Amino acid sequence: MSVTLAFDVYGTLIDTHGVVSRLQELIGEKAKDFSQTWREKQLEYSFRRGLMQNYENFAVCISNALDYTCAFYKVTLTKDQKHELLGNYRTLPAFKDVEDGLARLKAADFRLFAFSNGSEDAVEKLLVAAGIRDFFLGVVSVDDLKSFKPNPAVYSHFLRKSGASGSNAWLISSNPFDVIGAISAGMRAAWVQRSRDAIFDPWGIEPTITVENLGELYEKIS
Ligand code: 2OP
Repeated sequence: MSVTLAFDVYGTLIDTHGVVSRLQELIGEKAKDFSQTWREKQLEYSFRRGLMQNYENFAVCISNALDYTCAFYKVTLTKDQKHELLGNYRTLPAFKDVEDGLARLKAADFRLFAFSNGSEDAVEKLLVAAGIRDFFLGVVSVDDLKSFKPNPAVYSHFLRKSGASGSNAWLISSNPFDVIGAISAGMRAAWVQRSRDAIFDPWGIEPTITVENLGELYEKIS
């Protein structure tokens, strides 16, 4: 059976810092730090909601994290400006290496899925807007379980829904917490380290492989 690849979406296929140029127009030089804090806070909120078993979908985590980040940087945005930024977040761009890497993997007969904390509808629209939806056999969302990565149940859910087994399924992610979660749940996992500055959590659980981009992923696993 062909090997199944579960692609993480935010931060792996899709560049969450694609909002920086609009943020620069709105808030100036704080834009990069603001974007970083916004992203980190979204993930923290998803982890906390998962642990608390107090689920709201990822769009709520993104929106609550935007409010937090405005308060943290003492930035005042109007309702319309926040609305616009959240709209931008629904149409973020793919990283440069993604389209070509996915095309090569698909042509090599890998079974490609998107697997995300985002709701199915949000991820479908994001992938369509980025022009990469057609590479995937389907979208699997944690929303089905009302929990978030790295709950082991969501990785099992991915395997069930995609019809794969842990030994022939890989998670592909730039997010170390996601890679560690997948390996801990019995999958193989590739860490996409696009920047030399990205650090892998020193937990003693290592990625099966590390690559710099999806082109290198293709070279290493096909
Ligand atoms: C995703 O699941 C972790 O945000 C990341 O798409």
